[in-house]
Amino acid sequence: MTSTAFPDPADTWNRRFAEDGFLFGTGPNAWLREHASVWQPGQRVLSVADGEGRNSVWLAQQGLRVDAFDIAEVGVAKARRLAAEQGVDVNFTVSDCDAFPWPEAAYDGVAAIFVQFADPALRTRLFANMRRCLKPGGTLVLQGYTPRQLVYRTGGPPIESHLYTEALLREAFAEMEITALREYEAELAEGSGHRGRSALIGLVARRRPVAA
Ligand SMILES: C[S@@+](CC[C@H](N)C(=O)[O-])C[C@H]1O[C@@H](n2cnc3c(N)ncnc32)[C@H](O)[C@@H]1O
Repeated sequence: MTSTAFPDPADTWNRRFAEDGFLFGTGPNAWLREHASVWQPGQRVLSVADGEGRNSVWLAQQGLRVDAFDIAEVGVAKARRLAAEQGVDVNFTVSDCDAFPWPEAAYDGVAAIFVQFADPALRTRLFANMRRCLKPGGTLVLQGYTPRQLVYRTGGPPIESHLYTEALLREAFAEMEITALREYEAELAEGSGHRGRSALIGLVARRRPVAA
């Protein structure tokens, strides 16, 4: 059994990823690209629900050591091929987010780009795991849609409780040092899956270093 608001998410996403091409393109998400300089080459980063690998492969191209997981084996197979074509190593795993081992304080970074499959209960567990697997001083880069996206419908789940507001993210990551938190609108051109005017939110937050 998997834990998500959608019935059989692996099947749903495997079908979507079985289409030709890359649903969200092969280039990295723009918010991630803009903020990835928080990590230094050689550092260890986890790409959460990585899909067809556009973000993990790009992070590996920046010299990072990248782990990535996703529930959809068809997506992960495409991601492995993309990494091989680009000549980079990414440690891919097929896993539901509740089943992923989430090693404690293991990563310098977590990239969580459009992980809004999670309903509020799953999101609470997912965000707790994302916080916990960061080393003290490690940084989370997260991108999602705001409820205003229900007007645009150019990507993301059309379910308000899955979408993020600044207040929601501020509360969810209150233990962390938030270094960027921005609601904004932009034209996305990330494959056919995320295309057109979009109501976005981006977060960068650092797990607080252990006090001396
Ligand atoms: C909107 S896509 C984003 C993919 C990728 N992060 C990107 O930006 O290209 C959402 C991803 O979440 C994955 N997913 C859905 N439910 C999941 C779950 N319970 N555990 C892990 N991954 C899941 C899907 O397979 C899909 O790849």
